[in-house]
Amino acid sequence: MSPDRLSLEARHAQPQSPCFGGLLHYGNAQRTRRKIGLSSKTNIDEASAAEIRLNTERRVQVIQWTWSVSSQHDKSRFMRLRYIRAKVHAVSLNFRDLIISKNQYPLDLKQSELIPVSDGAGEVVSVGSKVTKWKKGDRVAGIFTQEHQHGSTPSKDEAKTALGGSRDGMLAQYVALPHTGIVRIPSHLSFEEAATLPCAALTAYNALYGIPTEQLRAGDTVVAQGTGGVSVFALQLAVAAGAKVVITSSSDDKLKKALSLVPESQRHLVTTVNYKTNPDWDKVALDVTQGKGVDHVVEVGGPGTLEKSFNSIKRGGVISTIGLVAQGEAPNVAYHALLTGAYFKGVLVGSREQFEHMNQIFEDHKIKPLVDKVFPFEQAEEAYAYQWSQAHVGKVVIKVQ
Ligand SMILES: NC(=O)c1ccc[n+]([C@@H]2O[C@H](COP(=O)([O-])OP(=O)(O)OC[C@H]3O[C@@H](n4cnc5c(N)ncnc54)[C@H](OP(=O)(O)O)[C@@H]3O)[C@@H](O)[C@H]2O)c1
Repeated sequence: MSPDRLSLEARHAQPQSPCFGGLLHYGNAQRTRRKIGLSSKTNIDEASAAEIRLNTERRVQVIQWTWSVSSQHDKSRFMRLRYIRAKVHAVSLNFRDLIISKNQYPLDLKQSELIPVSDGAGEVVSVGSKVTKWKKGDRVAGIFTQEHQHGSTPSKDEAKTALGGSRDGMLAQYVALPHTGIVRIPSHLSFEEAATLPCAALTAYNALYGIPTEQLRAGDTVVAQGTGGVSVFALQLAVAAGAKVVITSSSDDKLKKALSLVPESQRHLVTTVNYKTNPDWDKVALDVTQGKGVDHVVEVGGPGTLEKSFNSIKRGGVISTIGLVAQGEAPNVAYHALLTGAYFKGVLVGSREQFEHMNQIFEDHKIKPLVDKVFPFEQAEEAYAYQWSQAHVGKVVIKVQ
């Protein structure tokens, strides 16, 4: 990973600056109407349709009226094909969205204006003539990597289809997505809750279930680092499977909040460690497993936590490398992997197939995502700043409708 990337993550550990460089700007409806080729007499039935766009300097604008409003124009362009149109009800933020808004994202990005945010949920309002799987009213979420349909890791080409990055994202009142780019959301979840699933939850799922021979089982032990989005989902999925969890955090209050998600009857499965007051969480992980080591580490720390992750892993366990939020000197991975026989696997969110399996687990166990705070659409900037401050536990959501 490049030093640039590391310093970005380091900034995440010491968040301060506001997220967007620009002011919210409400575009002129007539101008936008002209831009998309609609006459002023066109009957547009969703008059408040709006989306947030980052321009090429990643400054934010809110543009009213979009190509996705209901009109003949829309029908001729999209509705014949294998697309669905969805009314977005809520989106959730990820660290990636923050650095994209600051023009600091090191991977592929759409070159022109970008509708940001990968994660969102809503309802299907219309379908193209070739779409048979979906119908009006279906409750759905977008898939983070639109073309990643099967397996654990996207191909290079598939990886270039991520929402809110290479492709326009979900921070809009209406979106058009390929019919293979959505999944049905669990029936017990609100749109705000379901909007948290596409990136953080699926990443946690992929870490725990991504290697077919090493999938999480009852009785296993999992380390989850911190109480951010990915780690809290790892906690919930692990407990649902009957596994033990060692979860770390910089804050006792955050640990309490995370623990409160776990049904009382299963709290004995969870050990909490404040990594500020007790940096030796690797020793705790060994104690919990009687010295054997844990089965899975959900590695969001990177250079600053990796050595301890290798100290905690059992022989042949799985360290899923996901993020780089912790500063520090990275250990010699080749040496440690050799010594422990551990799998050291990079995770890139997950596929449609995995998303569907994961949603079934959420449905079966009635797992509720931890939504820390919900902001209205007009306060998208405040939501970004709040996520950047790391005051949250779990997920930060923006309500769109
Ligand atoms: N590879 C992928 O597919 C993928 C997908 C999603 C996310 N990610 C990456 O994974 C990382 C976490 O994402 P997220 O959405 O969960 O972020 P998040 O919600 O912003 O949470 C980040 C959390 O990291 C914890 N943290 C910071 N320094 C730490 C340290 N030294 N040791 C342990 N924990 C520490 C903090 O927990 P406390 O406040 O409790 O201390 C913080 O809340 C980010 O780097 C993100 O880019 C990667």
